[in-house]
Amino acid sequence: MGIKVSVSLSVLFTLLDVVLTTVLYTHGSHLATFGEDALNFNILQSALDLWGFVLLRASLLLGASIGVTWNKKHGPRRVSALTSLILFFCLVVITYALAKLLMLTEVKPLSQQPWLLSLICWTCASSVGVMLLWILLGKESSPVNSRRRSYNPGEGSCEETESLMATAGEEEQEVGCERREKKTQKKEEEEMETTRSGATVGRLMSFSRKDAGLLCVAFFFLVISAVCEAFIPLYYGRAIDGIVNYKSMEHFAEPVIILGVLALVSSFAMGVRGGIFSLTFSRLNLRLRSHLFRTLMRQEIGFYDENHTGDIMSRLSADTTQVSDLITQNVNIFLRSTIKAAGFLFFMFGISWKLSLVAIMGFPFIGLVSQLYGDYYKKLSKQVQTTLAEANRVAEETISSMRTVRSFANECGEEASYYAKLLAMYQLNKKEALAYACYMWSSSISELVLEVSVLYYGGHLVITRQMTSGNLISFFIYMLELGECLESIASVYTGLMQGVGAAEKVFEYLDREPKHPADGTEAPDTCAGLVEFKDVTFAYPTRPDTDVLKGVSFTLRPGEVTALVGPSGSGKSSCVSLLENFYLPQQGQVLLDGKPVHTFQHDYLHSRVALVGQEPALFARSVEDNITYGLSDVSMETVVQAATKANAHDFITSLPEGYETGVGEKGTQLSGGQKQRVAIARALVRNPRVLILDEATSALDAESEHSVQQALNNILQEHTVLVIAHRLSTVEKADNIIVIDKGHVAEQGPHAQLMASGGLYSKLVQRQVLGIQTGAELLNPPELSRRPEGERRRRRQRSSSSSSSGGGGSESEFKARY
Ligand SMILES: Nc1ncnc2c1ncn2[C@@H]1O[C@H](COP(=O)(O)OP(=O)(O)OP(=O)(O)O)[C@@H](O)[C@H]1O
Ligand SMILES: [Mg+2]
Repeated sequence: MGIKVSVSLSVLFTLLDVVLTTVLYTHGSHLATFGEDALNFNILQSALDLWGFVLLRASLLLGASIGVTWNKKHGPRRVSALTSLILFFCLVVITYALAKLLMLTEVKPLSQQPWLLSLICWTCASSVGVMLLWILLGKESSPVNSRRRSYNPGEGSCEETESLMATAGEEEQEVGCERREKKTQKKEEEEMETTRSGATVGRLMSFSRKDAGLLCVAFFFLVISAVCEAFIPLYYGRAIDGIVNYKSMEHFAEPVIILGVLALVSSFAMGVRGGIFSLTFSRLNLRLRSHLFRTLMRQEIGFYDENHTGDIMSRLSADTTQVSDLITQNVNIFLRSTIKAAGFLFFMFGISWKLSLVAIMGFPFIGLVSQLYGDYYKKLSKQVQTTLAEANRVAEETISSMRTVRSFANECGEEASYYAKLLAMYQLNKKEALAYACYMWSSSISELVLEVSVLYYGGHLVITRQMTSGNLISFFIYMLELGECLESIASVYTGLMQGVGAAEKVFEYLDREPKHPADGTEAPDTCAGLVEFKDVTFAYPTRPDTDVLKGVSFTLRPGEVTALVGPSGSGKSSCVSLLENFYLPQQGQVLLDGKPVHTFQHDYLHSRVALVGQEPALFARSVEDNITYGLSDVSMETVVQAATKANAHDFITSLPEGYETGVGEKGTQLSGGQKQRVAIARALVRNPRVLILDEATSALDAESEHSVQQALNNILQEHTVLVIAHRLSTVEKADNIIVIDKGHVAEQGPHAQLMASGGLYSKLVQRQVLGIQTGAELLNPPELSRRPEGERRRRRQRSSSSSSSGGGGSESEFKARY
């Protein structure tokens, strides 16, 4: 529906409103009524006040229509910003009209005043019409994007939007249109979010479809308990009438017995309902968490580069709990309260329609306050969730890297950054507390006003013998209970909003399709293990503009050891990530036996290609479980064999519980070298065709590395081995050495050839040798300086030869990097 239609509707409605109200007011065409009432206005006889409201209504609707037509760009938004105020105005008019109706019934029966009765009814109906048309006019805004495009901060439209956008307190600080435009966009997003809330609740309901049976049973008992509770105040009233009016035991005992039965049945039904809802909560929570975890497991590695562990954990634990709570607790309370409220209203109208009118006049105001509070609370709770996730992230990062924190003595720094996050949350909590205080204040005041009004008017009805005292007591109990129900509905509303916010976050993850799904299908019977990188260009998803690899091409042949060397950060581990199919290259292909790695079945690829990473992560399980990680039915014999090959068997058997010993979180109860050997055993137990060792032996002493190398040499014949190492001893024996520099293949060939060509490799080797010497000199300067030149030369030669033979040597020698 376009702006034209809504404006035409508004103008037509205004015309109808003015004409009809005037006709009803003048009892057809007695225009003299205006003059008479103006001169002698009496609220109990004249309806001039009601006619006056039509002028206000007409001015509001015509004003909005002109505004929207005049300024199609910003008009609807301005109208929509005033919606709450207009709703409030219309509610005031309706309340006034109903109050007038009650007053008039005291003077004359309504059947004798048909014109006035019609005018009051029309006033209420037309006020509702104004609310609807106002919402319609506010909605007729152009799509968000086109609005954003057409919004030009330099065209003086800032003033126009100023009044809409500025909020108290922030006004002084916010100067300039750009800021205001941001706020406008934020507001638009919030509006869109509000419309999404309904959809989210609907989707959550469909998520609980599997529990539909249980929920139906719970709902059945909910209805029983609510209906029983709805009857209880009625019988209280009857019992009191039995005492006060009839003064007979017979009239008194019957309602008391019925009361007892009702209380028994309702408490039984309530218990069953509560139990079933708790059960549904657990089932839904289980389903939601496992579903979310499964979705997380399917995400590509780039997702984990982008998102912090703390954020993900917070969605997995706090948000899912809130979502389950939303369905089981809040929806439960919402339904119970709504059913009870409907029952109470029914009985209230049965007892006295006049008193009921007084009672329900106040409810829309309470509802409006709840709506405003709920919206604000939703916004705040989303912000609180985000800051909480950030605080958790800081805490998790710090606690998991406690050794690093301690070694840099940065405990205070970490405390400060955690405190800063908590402080940010505290600021939001303060706002929440203030909003809650205002809400409680306004709702208690309105409740009190309502109760006093009902008591006053009810007392008047009893005194004028229009109702019995027992009925007034029943009515009062009903009204108090109804107030409680409405309060629960209002509190549930904020709970619902909170849950919807959390649900939107959970769905954001649940809906996320992995950008690089592991959905390959190839699983050939044999795998030779020929790996080819063909003109591969690659940038990490988190830094799409920085190419880490630029046109890299090389081949890894079965039965050969290939070494990848190059300066730190040149892209060696990135090549490994591509071969492991963690990322997709932007250009070129990574092939295994002539087929791109991403076309292979996920399990198949990782059983044929095994990686011992640069920083191997172990799980907080036993050594055996770590070695057989991801495999089932592995015999102990195979595990011991793999551990022996990795030179890990001896140290494992010396552990307190051998292979059953726990390794601690991330393997912290093992030394760096022991961890690496367990990681090598984990790779070897799979008997892979392609074995990748990315700095896999960097933490081992020369002796252990030598034995691991020996073991690897024995199995190399059938394997393709890719070794990344900074140690010359590991690299020089390789069949082929590929030198990577700044994402390019600088050169490749065997050690001798590369040394002879005098390229980057030979420079790196020389620098290492030189570095060793310099390191030795630094370590032991006086001794060395005292030695004669000849001895120094001999020592230099020795160190060079020992490094090239890969045997012993000092630790500094082994740690020296190219
Ligand atoms: N997950 C990632 N997201 C974004 N950039 C990354 C990521 N991992 C590495 N990089 C960047 O890619 C480049 C190559 O890193 P890579 O880990 O491949 O180097 P490397 O040759 O293995 O270095 P080293 O010898 O220190 O292990 C570096 O500049 C690094 O900053
Ligand atoms: Mg690396």
